[in-house]
Amino acid sequence: MIKIAPSILSADFAQLGPEVAVVEAGGADWIHVDVMDGHFVPNITLGPAIVSAIKPHTSLPLDVHLMIEQPERYIADFAKAGADVITVHAEACTHLHRVIHMIKEHGIKAGVAINPGTPASIIQEVLEDVDLVLVMTVNPGFGGQQFIPRTVQKVRQVRQLLNEASLFDVHIEVDGGITSETAPLVADAGADVLVAGSAVFGQKDREAAIMAIRGSVQN
Ligand code: DX5
Ligand code: ZN
Repeated sequence: MIKIAPSILSADFAQLGPEVAVVEAGGADWIHVDVMDGHFVPNITLGPAIVSAIKPHTSLPLDVHLMIEQPERYIADFAKAGADVITVHAEACTHLHRVIHMIKEHGIKAGVAINPGTPASIIQEVLEDVDLVLVMTVNPGFGGQQFIPRTVQKVRQVRQLLNEASLFDVHIEVDGGITSETAPLVADAGADVLVAGSAVFGQKDREAAIMAIRGSVQN
């Protein structure tokens, strides 16, 4: 089953409570929360205080995507704030294996993300330790960017690595430029969690926007 995770990066930051409630009512599966530090990516967004502020407004899992340097410094804070999944970038972790286990020690799901310029092979040694692999389909930092077609073959490659290791429960998430045009490409390659920012929050009717993406992969 494909999961749709609207990214609140494209929501109205002054209305985050109502915004998450609307996409939950509109059929979203997870809420994707983009954390940026102005170092790992050239943009600054939000921290644990915002995650705890959103938490009471939705019963959906909070999928926290950390685009920050040395994420190990903040894992405990985001776990305490109510994150259900925490994903860190392989490029941002000197001790990736340690950070993944630090996340799991909080009893939540751990994900590893890779940028478009990073090969799938970099995550080979931690595949058995993660619940999710996030294949970035744009260079992280901003919403509303264009999907990078080359990433489709990396999704396929990650699915193959997981299959070869008999890891059938690990999610493959894609993030960036996902629309009803690009969703079928990544779903066909093996992605099962689709993040969508502008394609959902950029539309007046969020329910119709979610249904359009879901419909594009189920036909
Ligand atoms: C990009 C973020 C994404 C972003 C996606 O750096 O990680 O989650 O919100 O936005 P869209 O769907 O508009 O490309
Ligand atoms: Zn993201």
